[in-house]
Amino acid sequence: MPLVTSKEMFKRAYEGGYAIGAFNVNNLEIIQGITEAACELKAPLILQVSAGARKYAKHIYLMKLIEAAEIDTGLPICVHLDHGDDFEICKSCIDGGFTSVMIDGSKHSFEDNIKLTSEVVKYAHDKGVTVEGELGKLAGIEDDVNVSDEDAAFTRPEEVEEFVSRTGVDSLAIAIGTSHGAYKFKPGQKPKLRFDILDEISKRLPNFPIVLHGASSVVPEYVKIINENGGDMPDAIGIPEEMLRQAAASSVCKINIDSDLRLGMTAGIREHFVKHPDHFDPRQYLSPGRANIKALVAHKITKVLGCDGKA
Ligand code: G3H
Ligand code: 13P
Ligand code: ZN
Repeated sequence: MPLVTSKEMFKRAYEGGYAIGAFNVNNLEIIQGITEAACELKAPLILQVSAGARKYAKHIYLMKLIEAAEIDTGLPICVHLDHGDDFEICKSCIDGGFTSVMIDGSKHSFEDNIKLTSEVVKYAHDKGVTVEGELGKLAGIEDDVNVSDEDAAFTRPEEVEEFVSRTGVDSLAIAIGTSHGAYKFKPGQKPKLRFDILDEISKRLPNFPIVLHGASSVVPEYVKIINENGGDMPDAIGIPEEMLRQAAASSVCKINIDSDLRLGMTAGIREHFVKHPDHFDPRQYLSPGRANIKALVAHKITKVLGCDGKA
């Protein structure tokens, strides 16, 4: 099956009460770990690429690796730009073979967000590519995403119908209390997501796919392994799995996961070096990182997203 857009995937996920995992990819081992798990479990996949990933690996390398994964597995795979922040990067990804893009205009005013998103939708739809927009601001710090807690803001349900109808986006990312990165809630803090806001948005946008960013659970086992093997990560709490399951069963059709992949990869590599300090062949120490990613993605697919057997 050739690379697909998110259209059909989201329609089936919405109707079936499950979500598709959108996993960030940066290199060969990450792509292989994710796709091997999805292949064994017959799960549809979104592989997403950030501006930082394109800078690190180059667009063409990631594109060809994803094409190889599609040929190797035969899975429906959507290749998606994560957090495109201007028209140019969206155009470059569309022209370069991506089947879906996110235009993240959430840092702009409502009107400017609509203007920018509409321009991307027009260009993308002419080429048969789907578009994710965003309303509301998530907290968190990543290479190309940096929003402080004070600047974070929940999505305002009263804005969603106008945003979707004026822009023509195919899906909408919303802010209901998730955040980017490995430090979402401090120890002692109780994780809370605003399901009341999600419900209100879902009522206003019937049959419309919602996207949840910042949805890593900050897997405690991996943080423990990292810290037992020379790492120094502060304790942090991520998004509890039962909350993600609740979201996946509702209108949320896409759940974004990056930080948990990073933790799994790092835990595998750190553990390997402590056991084998003499190793210097990258294949030896990258293999356990890739194996952790495969196990993690299998867990997310079967225990969180519910998309196993849906390919
Ligand atoms: O939400 C952002 C993703 O985790 C990508 O992070 O910009 O560091 O590649 P990145
Ligand atoms: P996490 O940092 O929680 O993995 O979120 C990833 C994400 O939202 C990518 O867009
Ligand atoms: Zn994100």
